[in-house]
Amino acid sequence: MTAPLQGYRAIDPRYLLADNLSTSFDIYIIQRHNGRLTPVLLIGRETPIFSVRDTLAAKANIIGQLYIKDEECTDFQQFMEESLQVLIADHALSAARKSQVVYDCARNVLRDVFDDPRSGTNLARTKRVTNNMVDFILENEHSIIGLLQLGSHDYYTFSHCVNVAVFSLGLWLMMGRGDDFDLRDFTLGCILHDVGKTTIAGHILKKPGRLTAAEFTEIKKHPRNGYELMRNCLPPIALDVILHHHEKDNGDGYPDGLTGDMISDHAKVAAIADVYDALTTNRPYCTARPPFKAILTMKEEMVGHFEQEKFLKFIRFLGGDRE
Ligand SMILES: [Fe+2]
Ligand SMILES: [Fe+2]
Repeated sequence: MTAPLQGYRAIDPRYLLADNLSTSFDIYIIQRHNGRLTPVLLIGRETPIFSVRDTLAAKANIIGQLYIKDEECTDFQQFMEESLQVLIADHALSAARKSQVVYDCARNVLRDVFDDPRSGTNLARTKRVTNNMVDFILENEHSIIGLLQLGSHDYYTFSHCVNVAVFSLGLWLMMGRGDDFDLRDFTLGCILHDVGKTTIAGHILKKPGRLTAAEFTEIKKHPRNGYELMRNCLPPIALDVILHHHEKDNGDGYPDGLTGDMISDHAKVAAIADVYDALTTNRPYCTARPPFKAILTMKEEMVGHFEQEKFLKFIRFLGGDRE
């Protein structure tokens, strides 16, 4: 949200719900003094949330929009991540609002993971956000649509990661598979599937136009690099998705050239979600295809890449079918 004063950004007071937390940021209102907009500190950091709510209720008639300083945006973001569980459970908050918060939290966490994939804190944050996303989707499968509508069609690695996780989870649920535990590990692998790209040079990743053979060889290292990066930090299902999301049913994939049953169902589902999201997204070398065209491309130009049964289920999932 934009703010009328540079250096400040608006926050939504409806997100200040988690009674077990305190603010880790200052909250301001912006008032006009002598014709100039001036920030006025309303609530200082370290204030328990129940007390924040009391203040807001007591001053409801004089308080307008709330703001935080730009530089405390990360603190606010982490506060939101810690609040997610409470926000998702809150019946007063609309599904659209919840989708927005879940999506924003996931994308922001991924941005930090891609900045520093070796950070244990970032990984713990990713697990927490992923678990909350799974809870949110399990509670209401229609939330998948809300989450997917938020997906950016521009080339942002972080949005792509979240989209792949949501598409994969949707297809997996459609297949009626997996217990709760599997789902969390699987979704974690999907959201981190491209983490190995942090090891690939930016000029190759962002190159507009065709890659040379040498550059493509370099790109193809990202599944194994991601696996190596995460091998001591993630459960086996998540590692398998990271390592094998570019395998193809006919054996033409990488890094291991696995075929058919040698590829896990988790990796097969992630592969479908990955390609579909890439095709429906604007990329440096290719504009986004509409959903129907993307499916047609996958069906006609990628023969043998995907397991047919899952691909057909994916088409039904996109069509709004829920089993
Ligand atoms: Fe990938
Ligand atoms: Fe990907």
